[in-house]
Amino acid sequence: MKIGIYGGTFDPPHLGHMEAAKAAIHYFGLDRLLLIPNKLPPHKFLPKDTASESARFAMTELMADGIGSTATAVDLELLREGPSYTADTIRALRTKYPDAQFYLLMGTDMFLSFETWREPDFLAKEVTLVPFFREEGSSHELFAVQTEKLREALGAKIQMLPLETVHPISSSQVRRLLHDEETQDRAGALLFPSVYGYILRHHLYGTCTELKNLSSSRLRAVSYSMMKAKRIAHVRGTEETAVALALLWGEHPEYARRAAILHDCTKYWELPEQLALCAEYGVSLDDLERQSVKMLHSKTAAILSEHQFGEAPEVCRAIARHTTGAPDMTRFDQIIYLADYVEPTRDFDGVEELRQLAFSNLEKAMIVGLQTTIAELEEKHVPVHTNTIRTLEQLTRIVEG
Ligand SMILES: [Fe+2]
Ligand SMILES: [Fe+2]
Repeated sequence: MKIGIYGGTFDPPHLGHMEAAKAAIHYFGLDRLLLIPNKLPPHKFLPKDTASESARFAMTELMADGIGSTATAVDLELLREGPSYTADTIRALRTKYPDAQFYLLMGTDMFLSFETWREPDFLAKEVTLVPFFREEGSSHELFAVQTEKLREALGAKIQMLPLETVHPISSSQVRRLLHDEETQDRAGALLFPSVYGYILRHHLYGTCTELKNLSSSRLRAVSYSMMKAKRIAHVRGTEETAVALALLWGEHPEYARRAAILHDCTKYWELPEQLALCAEYGVSLDDLERQSVKMLHSKTAAILSEHQFGEAPEVCRAIARHTTGAPDMTRFDQIIYLADYVEPTRDFDGVEELRQLAFSNLEKAMIVGLQTTIAELEEKHVPVHTNTIRTLEQLTRIVEG
C-alpha cells in the first residue's frame, strides 16, 4: 500500500496544498493520502491570529473531502502533546501500517533544511521524501545539491513531485487578505470554497462578516462548508436550473439562486440536531417528519435561511417545501422543487422528458415529479407524506380543470 503523508499547520489549508495533494495522489498512484495538521510545528511559531486546533482540523477535513476519497485528515499530531516531530508521527504510522510505502510530502524550504529535522536518518529509512516547488524560480540548483547530499549522507530515497500549475500561495498571505473586508474575497479565491465558508461562518482570522444578506459567492461558500463535497455538484446544478426556470417563468432569478444554494445546507445534520433546531424555533412536526432527516432537512434549511442568513420569506418557504411539496405551492416554490428534481447531475429513467416538461409546462412537470416520487417511495415501502399526496391531488384538479 502506498500512503502519502502531508503535514502542515493548515492555517488555513489553501488551493496550493490541495493541488500538491492531488498531484501526489495521481503521480505516485497513492492508495491513501493522510493530511496531518501539526499541533506545534517544530520549525516555526504559530501566528497570533492562528485558528484553534479544532478549526484547523475541521478545515483540513473539508479540504480532504474536496480532494476525494483517497484523502483523509488525521488528528494524531493534534492529540499528541508537545512539538509535532515528524519522526514521532512516522513511528506511530509505521505501527499502524507495517508494510506500507510512505511518501512524505514537503515544500522545498522544508526539504532544504531536512538535516535539521529530528532523526533525519530514521526518517530517510522509513519514507520516500517528496519535495515540490510551490514557487516559480525556486532554486533548482540548490535542490539538486541537497538531493545529492541527502542520498549520500543518509541513503535517502527522494522523488520530486512535478506540479503542473504552481500556486505561489502561502497561508500567511491568505490570512492577511482575510483580515481586510476589502480583500477578503481575494483570499476566498485562493481557498476551496467550503474552507472559505467555514472561515466566514466561524469568523476566523479577523473576519467579522455579517451572515445575513451575503453576496451569492459567499453564500455558496457558507452553504458548501456545511455539506459533503460530493453534494456540491448537485447544488450547483440546482442553482443553474432554478435561475433558468425563474427567468423563463417570470420569477425572481436571484431569489431562485439563493433558495437553490441553501436548499440542502442541513442535509448532513444528524436527526437530533435537526430536531433540536425545529424545537428551538417552535416549528411543529408530524410523526413522519420527526423520524426522517430526509424530510427534516428542508425545514431546518428554511429555519437557517430565515434566522441565520436573513433570506426573503419566498426563499425560505420554497426551501421548506422542496422535499414533500405542499398544497398551494406558488410558482416560485414549484421552480425550486423541480430544479432540485431535474438539475443536470440527476440521472433516472424519464429525467430528460421531465426536464423538458419543466421548461414547457410547470404544473404538468410537478405532477409527473410528484407521481414519480410517490411510485418510488411505495416501491421501497417508505410512507408518503400527506403533503405530497395532497399537492398531487390539487395540481391534478387544476390541470384537468
Ligand atoms: Fe433536499
Ligand atoms: Fe437537493
